[in-house]
Amino acid sequence: MSKKDFYKTLKAEVARVDAAAVTKRKENIIEGFTKDPSPKALIDGKEFMVFNSNDYLGLRHHPKLKKAEHKASDNYGAGPGAVRFISGSLKVHRDLEKALAKFHGRDDGMIFSSAFATNLAVLFSLIKGQSRDSLLNNNTLVLSDQLNHRSIIDGIRLANLSKESKAIFAHLKPAEAAKVLEENKDKFDRVVVVTDGVFSMLGEFQDLKKLREVVDQYDKVYKEGVLLVVDDAHGVAGSGKTGRGTEEVMSGRADVLVGTLGKGFGADGGYVVADQEVIDYLRESAATYIYSNNISPATAGAALASVGIVNSKEGQKLIDNLGKNIKYFKKEMSEAGFVFAADSSHPIQPLLIGEAQKTMKMTHGLYDEGILVTNINYPVVPKGRDEIRVQISATHTMDDLKLFIKKAIEVAKKTGVLS
Ligand SMILES: Cc1ncc(COP(=O)(O)O)c(C=O)c1O
Repeated sequence: MSKKDFYKTLKAEVARVDAAAVTKRKENIIEGFTKDPSPKALIDGKEFMVFNSNDYLGLRHHPKLKKAEHKASDNYGAGPGAVRFISGSLKVHRDLEKALAKFHGRDDGMIFSSAFATNLAVLFSLIKGQSRDSLLNNNTLVLSDQLNHRSIIDGIRLANLSKESKAIFAHLKPAEAAKVLEENKDKFDRVVVVTDGVFSMLGEFQDLKKLREVVDQYDKVYKEGVLLVVDDAHGVAGSGKTGRGTEEVMSGRADVLVGTLGKGFGADGGYVVADQEVIDYLRESAATYIYSNNISPATAGAALASVGIVNSKEGQKLIDNLGKNIKYFKKEMSEAGFVFAADSSHPIQPLLIGEAQKTMKMTHGLYDEGILVTNINYPVVPKGRDEIRVQISATHTMDDLKLFIKKAIEVAKKTGVLS
């Protein structure tokens, strides 16, 4: 007996994953990008149109972001040097937090190494309290949308709550959340309701207006009220008339809003914005903020430049162009016979295929034509809901879209997706 036996078990586990055809480690390694307006990825020296990136506004390659990165690393060095409360709190971090708070119309904000890290700490802190001496008495009910992101699920798991303190409501059904709040009204001091703003497998928006109404109705019923936490990683800087995300699309407001800088904003890192009381408390309690480095100064500089662009006329043009691209893509693809998995205006536009073999063949076929898309199969989506996830960007040109549509029709006919 030795660790070799453990390694055998690890090997068998990887083989099990491979046999289930859900392998993730065979990644496409991108060697660089072309200098086109909509940069093509270079893989094995070949150019690929990118239709599977979260860079919805195309800001990742923007010269202003790259310039700001260089300036920030010149000023502060390549890394933060320490965690925030030691000596890693740099003016570029603080400027970014203030810019994000202003962007979302909140008192204050905090940045983290990622939105995943943000959710882990924000949820744990709000549910559980950070230390044994905490004044939070743990009598919290957590109510979560059935299909919330893994980072939300893990944030709740960390808090190690009793079974009774955790509840889920049916996906996108605030009326079901209301039922749970009604059933539990005498049992808990407070409730944290948590949801994704955008559900990234289908590009669906949570009904934030209705959920806000439900939360407000029960806020008066629980001793310490009901708090609405929304993770809008796929919404911010990509959706809504001015890029404010799901809040803008669905006319509802979160009490605590989590976002990422690594998707629409084109940089990296996560953030939370909220009322001052919440942010002050989180700065004292959020473990992944207190005990882990923040984003590099270069990344913070790029993100700050990005917030500036989204707020500018140039940003508005990108947002408008993204909307036009989505509309054109949907119209042409629907006319060609493709079925969309959701009726949504989000840049995630999944094509519903319904069979794992067909999605696989179609994704490979598109790859051979120099197009990157993502295959989504069970267990990520229910059996029979297999899809190809296409993500549209503001910087896709009309030529890119036309070429994609032409190739998609050809490959779909060859693979039996379209007759
Ligand atoms: C809803 C949601 N939350 C959080 C994340 C994680 O974002 P980050 O890459 O900043 O950790 C994602 C990314 O896939 C997401 O879809």
